[in-house]
Amino acid sequence: MKRGAGRRPTRGARRAKPAVEKLWGSRFSESAHPTAERFTSSLAFDRRLWPHDITGSVAWARALFRAGLLTAAERDTIVKGLEAVRAELERGAFPFRPELEDIHTNVERRLQELVGEVGGKLHTGRSRNDQIALDERLYLKDVLAHVGEGLRRVQETLVARAAESVDTPLPGYTHLQRAQPIVLAHHLLAYVFMLQRDRGRFEDGGARADVLPLGAAALAGTAFPIDREALAQDLGFAAAAPNSLDAVSDRDYVLEFLAAAAIAGMHLSRLAADLTLWATAEFGFVEFADAFATGSSIMPQKKNPDVAELIRGKSGRLYGNLLAVLTTLKGLPLAYNSDMQEDKEPLFDSVDTLAAILAVLPPLLASLTFRADRMRRAAGEHFSTATDLADYLVRKGLPFREAHAIVGRIVRHALDEGKTLEDLTLAELRRFSPLIDGDVKDAITVEASLRARAVTGGTAPAAVRRALALARTLVARA
Ligand code: ARG
Repeated sequence: MKRGAGRRPTRGARRAKPAVEKLWGSRFSESAHPTAERFTSSLAFDRRLWPHDITGSVAWARALFRAGLLTAAERDTIVKGLEAVRAELERGAFPFRPELEDIHTNVERRLQELVGEVGGKLHTGRSRNDQIALDERLYLKDVLAHVGEGLRRVQETLVARAAESVDTPLPGYTHLQRAQPIVLAHHLLAYVFMLQRDRGRFEDGGARADVLPLGAAALAGTAFPIDREALAQDLGFAAAAPNSLDAVSDRDYVLEFLAAAAIAGMHLSRLAADLTLWATAEFGFVEFADAFATGSSIMPQKKNPDVAELIRGKSGRLYGNLLAVLTTLKGLPLAYNSDMQEDKEPLFDSVDTLAAILAVLPPLLASLTFRADRMRRAAGEHFSTATDLADYLVRKGLPFREAHAIVGRIVRHALDEGKTLEDLTLAELRRFSPLIDGDVKDAITVEASLRARAVTGGTAPAAVRRALALARTLVARA
């Protein structure tokens, strides 16, 4: 017996169960410290990737066969075994083993248990580094379809509410001060167009994520003659990643998803903020259905818009998740680093958070009661048509700056007298400009103000009807 060989086992035997349990255990003579094992394990969160892990492994087995590394019989045994593992996972009978680090190892080890030694051939020429990048991309494809559909449903509900409110005046605000009359449909459609951009952003990110990392192996590319183009096609990817280092260290697809989710979350937060504000006694423009409100434990009269508030609040974690992953990736040397395992919990949290928001919004929006009477009254108050009076003077030939100054003086006068614009008599108005005639009264009603804004994108009911038609077309597109 050689001297060195005699010494090693003594050290390895210190613990009852050496590290051979692990995929990589043979090089180690000591098993992992339990806290280190818990600390490095990702199984608790990456287990949700199992459907994609199995899909990827099935395709990999087929690629190995095409490359002459598996016989047809071996390939079939492995594929059948993987399908058996899938069945166990589907019916909740899979024996998860936390000590096996991650979902990849759990699946592979279970395959070996079910099919025996041939299962050990599956990992030929593959690394968990290209495997995780594949699983995540496949997962994202799934998620993107759901997010797109969820956003579309919210849009649909907004469009339906807009269709009912094309002729419902509402005060429009700037600086949260009443500014000019708009119609409620115009306000609601603003969100439809925001969400349309969000759908575009998720789709754009999805197109860039549509690249196969598998075949990059650990970092340098697999050493076996794998036809990566065929593999890409088999897995439904547009192309194979052209650089193996980039393939295993790229997490742009995660970042782009998180960025798109953060922006969508911001939009939905603003919608929720509008509704929360409108539901106050001060505004009184909307009432939440009891089913989407909550009470107070101490104040019996309270009805709180909790659902809307939480939609508003959840934008915080959507931003945080983006920043967390950006920060984790910053400064990482090529190629794979374990730091990158930290991408998963933020990603999953944003996926779940967005899904929850998108699920609750359609029924919430459908259940709102808009107080058209209060909106209408408010739309005409506080000199909301002062710009229309200035525009009236412009139509009579005055330069806008002069018209603006004259109307400013009229407003000042009305305020001093405690009057509204409508209260002022023609004689009173003419003292400020002889260009003002009897037709002025009709020019400064809420309806006239709305009607005047018939440009594309304006709030005139006629223009809003056109925008509504456009919105319907966009939303109908899957
Ligand atoms: N759990 C890892 C991750 O989430 C998978 C890749 C692990 N690779 C490795 N060499 N440890 O990124």
